[in-house]
Amino acid sequence: MNRKRVVILGATGSIGESALKVARDIPERMEIVGLAAKSNAQKLAAAANEVRPESVCLVDETQIDILRKSLDYQPRIFSGTAGLLQIACLTGADIVLVAIVGTGGLRPALAAIEAGKDLAVASKEILVMAGEIVMREARENGVHVLPVDSEHNAIFQCLEPARVRAARDGGVASPTDIRRIILTASGGPFRETPRAAFDSITPEQALKHPTWNMGPKITIDSATLFNKGLEMIEAHWLFGVEMKRVEVVIHPQSIVHSMVEFTDGSTLAQLSYSNMCFPIQYAVTWPERVPNTLPPLDFSKLSKLEFSTPRYDDFPALNLARRAGETGGTLPAVMNAANEMAVAAFLDQKVRFPEIWRIVEQVMNRHTPVAHPNLDAILRADQWARAQAQGCVQSAER
Ligand SMILES: NC(=O)c1ccc[n+]([C@@H]2O[C@H](COP(=O)([O-])OP(=O)(O)OC[C@H]3O[C@@H](n4cnc5c(N)ncnc54)[C@H](OP(=O)(O)O)[C@@H]3O)[C@@H](O)[C@H]2O)c1
Repeated sequence: MNRKRVVILGATGSIGESALKVARDIPERMEIVGLAAKSNAQKLAAAANEVRPESVCLVDETQIDILRKSLDYQPRIFSGTAGLLQIACLTGADIVLVAIVGTGGLRPALAAIEAGKDLAVASKEILVMAGEIVMREARENGVHVLPVDSEHNAIFQCLEPARVRAARDGGVASPTDIRRIILTASGGPFRETPRAAFDSITPEQALKHPTWNMGPKITIDSATLFNKGLEMIEAHWLFGVEMKRVEVVIHPQSIVHSMVEFTDGSTLAQLSYSNMCFPIQYAVTWPERVPNTLPPLDFSKLSKLEFSTPRYDDFPALNLARRAGETGGTLPAVMNAANEMAVAAFLDQKVRFPEIWRIVEQVMNRHTPVAHPNLDAILRADQWARAQAQGCVQSAER
């Protein structure tokens, strides 16, 4: 039996919690050997005391004493950003699950690839910023990049027959078989809210997602549709498909997690209830499927599955992301960084909800993209965009 040894980066977050549930559900298939978080020492210790990984890492060194005191056994303890890189390369680990919110997962993801670990990627931001580099490094190091985002995991499952065929014929799965990738979007809490009401949206309202229970940043991204915009670029890199073949459809029930339309006109879709344990398990056990305790769909209780076109003019994130993805180079990293700053400012009640789109657009308009950037150029663009966005936040506050 193939038991995978897994390191979880972002163990105290929403994806981290779901990954721990999967490990409890299929212990004969998933062993946790490392857990890492940023600063939540007590939650990290509680998880470690339960699953007893050989190593833990806390980035915030000021909280290390709390971590030590809260542990009831003696794992190896790493700390700081250097420690995060070390735990990402743990000897004996097979897969590193990158579930760090924002851009903090990029360097550990690249370190894990270089160390020959397969990557299970929840942190879409790292593929948006540096998809070209991550996918190239993965190819050169012979490691798999397994998508955990539910939409990309769905597409990955729909492409399984093409991968099997390609492996049999000694080639690679060909994106020319794919006519369109169709990402489904719940539409978020403001799917039907009139544009005139956007100015008065509060963080509390935006944090109430209708179908998914997630961390705050991705929940706001789902409300603005930047989450789907980031996912368009993520799909482009993960599956080697041009941006023009990546589309979005609104599907409020979040049951169909995404679809692939092939050149012969057939469409494959993946369906399940909206629970991140499904994609996490598939990424860990791939290429095998194993039984679990998750509830399968009860079609007699699914009254309807609806699909509609997004309100592109009212939610500009999709067009901004298409522009960033089509332009490429450093522009996606700039969009991503400006969005992170704008979301933080909205959550701090410094700017109103529609300012998130305006700030991102302003920063993108000011940027001169660098084509095929190396990691340093990407990180410089990221820092530049953060400073620019900060300026926009200050102007919007006045
Ligand atoms: N939640 C979902 O259902 C979902 C679905 C698809 C994709 N994703 C993606 O998965 C990622 C994680 O989302 P989430 O909802 O789980 O976020 P979350 O609940 O906010 O958790 C974030 C995790 O990252 C850790 N972290 C933050 N900054 C870090 C840093 N610089 N170094 C190390 N660890 C750091 C946090 O540690 P502390 O707790 O110590 O701060 C926490 O464990 C995001 O990229 C998101 O887009 C999430």
